[in-house]
Amino acid sequence: MKFAMHSILFLAFVLFSWFQTPTFATRKSYIVYLGSHSHGREATNADWERATESHHELLGSFLGGSKEVAKEAMTYSYTRVINAFSAVMDENVAAEIKRHPKVLKVFESKQRKLHTTRSWEFLTQTDSNGVALPHSTFKRARFGADVIIANIDTGVWPESPSFSDEGMGSIPSRWKGACDVGKDPLRFRCNRKLIGARYLNKAYISSLKSWGSSSKELSQPELNTPRDYDGHGSHTLSTAGGGFVHGANMFGRLANGTASGGSPMARVAAYKVCWPDFFSLMGPGTICMDDDILAAFDMAIHDGVHVISASLGGSAAKDYLDDIFVVAAFHAYKKGIHVVASGGNSGPEPKSIVNIAPWIFTIAASTIDRDFQARVELQNGKILVGASFSRASPQGRFYPIIAGAEARRANSTIGDAKFCLLGTIDPKKVKDKILVCKTDDDEFSADRMEQGFEANQTGAAAMILGGNKAMNEMPVKHLLPAVHIKYQDFVALFAYLKSTKNPMATIHPPTDVFNLKPSPEVADFSSRGPTTFLPEILKPDITAPGVNILAAYSPAAPLTSYYNDNRQNFSYNLLSGTSMSCPHVAGVVGLLKTLHPDWSPSATKSAMMTTAKTRDSTDHPMLAETDTYDATITTKATPFEYGSGHIRPNKALDPGLVYDLTLNDYLDLLCGLYNNATELRLFYDAPYKCPHSYSVLNFNYPSITVPFLYSPVNVTRTLKNVGSPATYVARVFSPPGLTINLEPKTLKFDKVGEEKSFTLTFDVTRPGFGTAFGRIIWSDGKHFVRSPITVGGVHV
Ligand SMILES: *[C@@H]1O[C@H](CO)[C@@H](O)[C@H](O)[C@H]1NC(C)=O
Ligand SMILES: *[C@@H]1O[C@H](CO)[C@@H](O)[C@H](O)[C@H]1NC(C)=O
Ligand SMILES: *[C@@H]1O[C@H](CO)[C@@H](O)[C@H](O)[C@H]1NC(C)=O
Ligand SMILES: *[C@@H]1O[C@H](CO)[C@@H](O)[C@H](O)[C@H]1NC(C)=O
Ligand SMILES: *[C@@H]1O[C@H](CO)[C@@H](O)[C@H](O)[C@H]1NC(C)=O
Ligand SMILES: *[C@@H]1O[C@H](CO)[C@@H](O)[C@H](O)[C@H]1NC(C)=O
Repeated sequence: MKFAMHSILFLAFVLFSWFQTPTFATRKSYIVYLGSHSHGREATNADWERATESHHELLGSFLGGSKEVAKEAMTYSYTRVINAFSAVMDENVAAEIKRHPKVLKVFESKQRKLHTTRSWEFLTQTDSNGVALPHSTFKRARFGADVIIANIDTGVWPESPSFSDEGMGSIPSRWKGACDVGKDPLRFRCNRKLIGARYLNKAYISSLKSWGSSSKELSQPELNTPRDYDGHGSHTLSTAGGGFVHGANMFGRLANGTASGGSPMARVAAYKVCWPDFFSLMGPGTICMDDDILAAFDMAIHDGVHVISASLGGSAAKDYLDDIFVVAAFHAYKKGIHVVASGGNSGPEPKSIVNIAPWIFTIAASTIDRDFQARVELQNGKILVGASFSRASPQGRFYPIIAGAEARRANSTIGDAKFCLLGTIDPKKVKDKILVCKTDDDEFSADRMEQGFEANQTGAAAMILGGNKAMNEMPVKHLLPAVHIKYQDFVALFAYLKSTKNPMATIHPPTDVFNLKPSPEVADFSSRGPTTFLPEILKPDITAPGVNILAAYSPAAPLTSYYNDNRQNFSYNLLSGTSMSCPHVAGVVGLLKTLHPDWSPSATKSAMMTTAKTRDSTDHPMLAETDTYDATITTKATPFEYGSGHIRPNKALDPGLVYDLTLNDYLDLLCGLYNNATELRLFYDAPYKCPHSYSVLNFNYPSITVPFLYSPVNVTRTLKNVGSPATYVARVFSPPGLTINLEPKTLKFDKVGEEKSFTLTFDVTRPGFGTAFGRIIWSDGKHFVRSPITVGGVHV
């Protein structure tokens, strides 16, 4: 996606350096990490207070021995599971604390972003029934009834019908969470469906203070409640675990159907960590601070959730050791909790994938078969079809058409007015007309929301947008009826404008269009592999629907983030991003957890990965969208785009075999990575004996990656039988340029839980520096256990 950010970016840099230099040169927020607490889930207030006391003591000893000063500086004392505290301090104090014998690491607190940028509103795809989940699949897994799903996001709109507790039994006894409603202005209430809610805002509030917010501003009820004023959190939580809601739609019409989460009977809990970014110069946005996120993990693990869904991320980590999120996720993993995270929206750039640790389930995003289209009817009878999300339409009434350049104000240039930039359109010229605005040329790409805002505020009746050669235009929720047309149609429209004195047109209401093109396709925005750190682990892991997903929303949220005064009272909304695909997977994990409560997080992940599909609705290899300079093209997708493929929940319930991993497997991996007891202690406090030799190639991951192949290499994997006794035979699809030899070729399983190993020997026949893709499929005739094979350093 392109934006007209050139001028704004420049402004941002100037202002940031002006504000930041004097205030923040030395004082920053740090997380001082001490490992795990020795107390378990049965701990009492007294244990937690003792932990806080020891944190005050430790920090105080670096601040002139004063516990009072320490208390003042401390943002969080994490007391439940994760032993850590966060505090604002000088760089040199942070450097000293690092040397304290109890301190394992001092992390600089960073900010993360949600993985739907609202700008993604002009992309396409999923639906009220996004993943094709047959009723029988839901039923077999009892609608995910036994799981508790946590969402780390912008909170929740508790009154949404998606969180109704009708038909739900009593709250499970393992739940130790809370409904911490703060100063909610609208009487926030949890129920037997939404069993918990917390808001973690201390680091956020502290950052607002440092930017000069007054105490009155800071005590606004909206900043002290788990209630969702953004929409993103309600959307993601309902996608993971929302109940069935019939007749959910947008604008009373679009995407109408039955909305439901992946685990419709699951219990859900919201941990609000993302807050409005009032100081963003890029327009209203949302920030999520590491200190607040860590508090959410600490609480959620203690509270007794089974699945944590997190649709947010920072920049791609260079090393797991620099990323507190990765460490927090490992704490969750150790308690058997599944952590599912979005892979980011920085595609199609290669190596843009984030949240890549092997104990995190990393999700890409793909399209479904639905689009939203409206017809523009010119008075000469010609029809132009474009993308549209409009609520209303001129309903058959014809209006004069005027191009932005013709409608310009005296004080603006033709160059600006043709894009309908803010303040460039003369209300007298466009009143009750259809305004035509160019979106892109070779140097500039306009902000579509801004264009719609200008058209609406100058009194246009409707708007037609076009001129983008680079991609299929995606609909945007404009404030007035609008259609985004393709480049060729835009050229045709101008030919019509030239051909007649009084050009007229009408815009018909948009409709859902199905079966438009092969689906799924990997979305252009979905972040891509390979990873730069530990490339032996393929990321992303899997793809799921993430384009135009209908799910619950916050009625208090603005329709778009651009113009805040524009609250729309929407119960449901269509959003796009890996933020949307992540909770689809979290929901399906809930189904698997209900059906197979004894499976490890790794077994569940393997079940979903080995049953994923790599073909689309036309039975051809799945495609990926890629933007080039002047066209949107689709190319054959690779595992760097979809990992193991697109989720198939019904198959995942019965995978036959799984590639399981134990805690020791992960510790051995960490031994192999760091070979250093100090670094290992970040993840595991107890003594651990590392193996003498270790090859990460043999880490029992459900995908197989040999990043560098120059001489023969052996890769071993172990399969565990989770189905009935059977004999499995493998087929290996080897890419050109190398040979892959398999030994043994048959694996016979006599009972459930039995494990059998095999070895693949890779050899290069034509050396070079390309990347090649193959696959191995184990089958007993009924199950197909498929792993992608990625090999680097061969000639293709
Ligand atoms: C939306 O779907 C529901 C069923 O889920 C149906 O009863 C209703 O009539 C539909 N509404 C529209 C506008 O199509
Ligand atoms: C042109 O003038 C109008 C009205 O005075 C103002 O609102 C608008 O921002 C100006 N536009 C530009 C591009 O300076
Ligand atoms: C412009 O926006 C306002 C406020 O959202 C809305 O009431 C009005 O109907 C819009 N204009 C058109 C032509 O839709
Ligand atoms: C928002 O919509 C709901 C129903 O969807 C309605 O009950 C409520 O009154 C509306 N609120 C406002 C402020 O329009
Ligand atoms: C182990 O790692 C720590 C932290 O990165 C480092 O300070 C220390 O020097 C390392 N020790 C060895 C023996 O490499
Ligand atoms: C791979 O395994 C085979 C058989 O177990 C063994 O003979 C061979 O030496 C191994 N090759 C490498 C490169 O380790």
